[in-house]
Amino acid sequence: MFDPITPSTNTNGQVDFTFNGKNMSAASGTTIAAALLAADQIWFRETPISGQQRGPFCMMGACYDCLVQIDGVSVQACMTPVTEGLQVNRVPFSLPKEGKRS
Ligand code: FES
Repeated sequence: MFDPITPSTNTNGQVDFTFNGKNMSAASGTTIAAALLAADQIWFRETPISGQQRGPFCMMGACYDCLVQIDGVSVQACMTPVTEGLQVNRVPFSLPKEGKRS
């Protein structure tokens, strides 16, 4: 019923990537969110105001709680396939330039 987003291209069907510098491996065609959840990584970002940890909720591109950074660009982990050599990072906590809102 469901097919992987991208077909497997290597012999063992695995791709290697990093999350916050930690080496990880996942099945080719898996989304970043699915790969990280399978590796017991449950939070991907912190909210900009309170700093609360957030992880995937909807797994279909609607909630944006799964944001991660790749090369400094925020992407939805549930909508992005993991690929060989990908360097994925948590979105760092940051307050808006004007400071904390009341
Ligand atoms: S988990 Fe909701 S947008 Fe990715």
